[in-house]
Amino acid sequence: MAAPLLSNANYFSGADDVIKIALIGCGGRGTGAATQALVSKQNVKLVAMADAFRDNLDTCFKDLNNEDIAESTNGRGSLKGKIDVPEERKFTGFDAYIHAIALADVVLLATPPGFRPIHFAEAIKQGKHVFMEKPVATDPAGVQKVLEAAALAKQKKLNVVVGLQRHYQNSYRELYKRKDLIGDITSAQAWWNNDGVWVRPRKYNQTEMEYQMRNWYYFNWLCGDHINEQHIHNIDAVNWFKGAYPVKAQGFGGRQVRKGKDHGEIFDHHYVEFHYADGSILNSQCRHMPGTMSKVDELLIGTKGRIKAGEANITDNKGKVLYQFDKTTENNPYQTEHDELFAAIAKGEYKFADAENGAKSTMTAVLGRMATYSGQVVEWDKAINCGLDLQPKEYDWNALPPLVPNEEGFYAVARPGITKYV
Ligand SMILES: NC(=O)c1ccc[n+]([C@@H]2O[C@H](COP(=O)([O-])OP(=O)(O)OC[C@H]3O[C@@H](n4cnc5c(N)ncnc54)[C@H](O)[C@@H]3O)[C@@H](O)[C@H]2O)c1
Repeated sequence: MAAPLLSNANYFSGADDVIKIALIGCGGRGTGAATQALVSKQNVKLVAMADAFRDNLDTCFKDLNNEDIAESTNGRGSLKGKIDVPEERKFTGFDAYIHAIALADVVLLATPPGFRPIHFAEAIKQGKHVFMEKPVATDPAGVQKVLEAAALAKQKKLNVVVGLQRHYQNSYRELYKRKDLIGDITSAQAWWNNDGVWVRPRKYNQTEMEYQMRNWYYFNWLCGDHINEQHIHNIDAVNWFKGAYPVKAQGFGGRQVRKGKDHGEIFDHHYVEFHYADGSILNSQCRHMPGTMSKVDELLIGTKGRIKAGEANITDNKGKVLYQFDKTTENNPYQTEHDELFAAIAKGEYKFADAENGAKSTMTAVLGRMATYSGQVVEWDKAINCGLDLQPKEYDWNALPPLVPNEEGFYAVARPGITKYV
């Protein structure tokens, strides 16, 4: 099949209709994203894999080749014949991504988010379409880098989908279409409260860099704290329905139960008041504490009614249901992201430009973190332009990451009132 080409866009690399993908970051989500890309309706093949660690790459490769993977493909079968990654197309280490990106038409970026800006910029530089996981950065410097690459992606007409999957979920899409039923949105609530995530304890022979890279959730240069890593989904949904990003934020947070040596520097709770230019406020809370109330949801309150995302309905202010989404028609948004992306690429369409919103919703979460860490009111314009860059000066297994433990093995943690947001 002849390849339909748009200016600068690398739609297919060969004479056949195979769309070649490379996976960068072969962990849990990378394995999932690759599976979803491979079972989209297009002729997709995985041709290259890159990971910082060989063992993670090997586990992913084995899982993708396992017939059991069919259980997680929504009835779309196994990945037989779709994985073509010989030894010479498996790359490891810090520069693995550059080599893998070069071999593909579309790249899937699923490393910890600290690396997303450099990986995304490289993919766009090389003219590739991108699926990238959220968040897309961990600091304002990274957000700026993603915004620059997003502008270039637009010029080159490269499709970019960001894994803020509520945008690809039927219930959210139907609620969004009807959002005018609630009039002007005057306030919102967002929650990501649950037990928390894994810990990957230190092993005796690890360098500090390897330890932090493996236990990445607990270090801000890699993760950005859980307000960025998970709660971004809820914050982004509110931004989307508002059609705006906050102009300032203030809040509080700290660590009350998750305080061990393997818990790095991140907080276990944040509460943030995000202010939008029109005076409306998003009250956001995220908590990682076992045994407390679990809730992951969003509520939008308008002059005429409410949108309750979890209940997938819209009510007037007296509680009368104005619209109820039929939950039996809910989709798997993780699959839809890939179905829609690869269908557009196969047709030669330029349809997805999610990176700018991904960057600005990431910045919203980072703004929240700056507010909780400092205990000050932090303004968007100052924060996004402040140049805060958490990345190490050098990516090397023996180089020191930006934060190192004290003699007892603990890391410095932000202290509101003392810590400056930059
Ligand atoms: N959209 C969602 O609902 C959702 C769900 C889960 C995870 N995610 C996102 O996916 C990303 C990955 O999360 P995960 O749960 O798969 O983590 P993970 O730890 O399971 O996997 C991360 C992988 O990236 C590799 N890696 C680290 N640094 C690298 C580098 N510089 N180059 C190449 N590989 C590198 C690691 O070795 C690991 O194999 C995160 O940004 C996370 O927020 C999104």
